[in-house]
Amino acid sequence: MPAEAFDAFRYAHQHRTEVAWLSQNTNHLVPPEVIRGALDEAIRGRRYEGYPLASGDPELLALAQADLGLRDLAASLTSGGTESLYMVARALLGAGDEVVASDPSYLIIHRFIELSGARPSCLDIYRPPYRLTSGAVAEAIGPKTKMLLLIDPLNPLGSGYPREEVRAIAELAHDHHLYLLNDVTYRDFSDGHALAAEFAPEETVTIWSVSKNCGLAGMRLGGLLARPELQRTIARYNTNDLGVNVLAQVAARAALRTKASWIGEVVRTTRANDRRIGEIAKGVEGVSVLVAPSRANMTVLDLAPTGIDPERLQEELLRQHGVFVRAGTYLSKTYGPRFVRVSFSNPPSDIERFARAFPAAVAALRRPVAASPRS
Ligand SMILES: Cc1ncc(COP(=O)(O)O)c(C=O)c1O
Repeated sequence: MPAEAFDAFRYAHQHRTEVAWLSQNTNHLVPPEVIRGALDEAIRGRRYEGYPLASGDPELLALAQADLGLRDLAASLTSGGTESLYMVARALLGAGDEVVASDPSYLIIHRFIELSGARPSCLDIYRPPYRLTSGAVAEAIGPKTKMLLLIDPLNPLGSGYPREEVRAIAELAHDHHLYLLNDVTYRDFSDGHALAAEFAPEETVTIWSVSKNCGLAGMRLGGLLARPELQRTIARYNTNDLGVNVLAQVAARAALRTKASWIGEVVRTTRANDRRIGEIAKGVEGVSVLVAPSRANMTVLDLAPTGIDPERLQEELLRQHGVFVRAGTYLSKTYGPRFVRVSFSNPPSDIERFARAFPAAVAALRRPVAASPRS
């Protein structure tokens, strides 16, 4: 029987408390008491017995609008930003449409685009400046283009967009009557971040999430903001007719109420960890950081000169060292076999585990396999 392929996620979840999770851009730095107090109270009040208000907790919706400074746009809640991305693709795209996007990218969105019968038209950004430019986007717009996808900051590269570039891309959407899907999941990690909705409020759908900034990935809560008519068009594809998880809403409200008091420290530790990972990578021959500093909480380490398969490195790090990073294959069909992505909103002790593990794992895989003795 052929050996079963190693399932990294199954393994990591089986060893959940022993693993340093540098794999999913999650955030392990938010003071836990912020969330715990709110959840304890909600559980004592048995909030889970009843349905939530289907349209979402009004205070949470207002906090989401205020957090983004988009009070004039209509807000809705979904089960993670992921569900919003799915709804937007289904509601706004159809057979034959094209979406200007990038490679690498957060490819789950591309899958949703394809499910809708449309096609992502990917610009190669595995080269400086490691993001879209308004010039390249302008050239890529054709008669079938229906939408521009602007993920800012970008998963996986950690690159971000200067304000003037966001403005220029938003103006392209406006001038060509295109939807602009602006996924700002990692916004809080990016200094001076600009929202496309500021420049093209009619065309932009803004996707937000509390998974990464608020350390609530397991709660599965996010949403979208758009002008009211566009929000209604997208809401036709909402399957959560009875509202999203009530405890997730309680946790998100507690986090957004207090975010201003702790986000600075979360970002400072994240930045220090980014620098430390840069130093570690520099010490390993054949490995390079593509974008430094990251404007998100992740970075890409290119391994191509080492000849090491990122899937094998992922497995070696996880099994031998309990350090979980992500092979690039799910983020780029073209470049995935060259890189791993490492995320770092983690306690510095996790980064020190990476510091010990990464050079050792690369050395183990680089070493030529010893010839087996003749029998
Ligand atoms: C760019 C981007 N958008 C959306 C998501 C999904 O976030 P959520 O947990 O809110 O579904 C992710 C998760 O990694 C992401 O990287």
